[in-house]
Amino acid sequence: MTEELDLKKYIREIPDFPKPGILFRDITPLLAEPKAFQEVTDRLTAYYREKQITAVLAAEARGFIFAAPLALALGARFIPIRKPGKLPFETKAFHYELEYGSDSLEMHTDSIHSDDRVLIVDDLLATGGTIAACIELAKHSQAEVVSCAFLIELAFLNGREKMNGCDVYSLIHYD
Ligand code: PRP
Ligand code: ADE
Repeated sequence: MTEELDLKKYIREIPDFPKPGILFRDITPLLAEPKAFQEVTDRLTAYYREKQITAVLAAEARGFIFAAPLALALGARFIPIRKPGKLPFETKAFHYELEYGSDSLEMHTDSIHSDDRVLIVDDLLATGGTIAACIELAKHSQAEVVSCAFLIELAFLNGREKMNGCDVYSLIHYD
């Protein structure tokens, strides 16, 4: 068996972006290294392969990057959650707070069904506002949220507390 990469080595830290006091975890060096990017998909696929996931939900923009290859690898539907005004069909919206601001997210009302087993994916868990909004949108359709997956978890921001006990799997932790 080949050894796991230390994925943290591919995350660049940028102080005071996009606002003073925020230490931004930049995933672009990881995306620029195919073996690291591939390993993220492979490790997430291995964890979720036997969990009968039928739909993978992700919020734009960075969530899409990891969710799309994972949905294909799991043979699940990919459901985009987007910022306001981008989805053309009937939508359900949810407002939430960010580490550095606030925003709304929208999902097509016909995209998830009550018998779906949903996995929500994002690049990073910070305060948990984004993921809590995605969980609310999924639950609006009475679907079961099986788990939430992240490349990075900023554990010191306690985002898990907003997730109502939902299962969480993350590959890189900052305590
Ligand atoms: C970032 C990141 C997560 C979210 C995490 O998205 O991609 O979705 O913040 O923060 P939270 O846990 O405090 O909600 P951002 O809204 O900056 O959008 P982007 O993906 O379009 O860059
Ligand atoms: N999204 C929310 N907080 C972030 C951070 N510190 N780095 C990168 N993305 C983020």
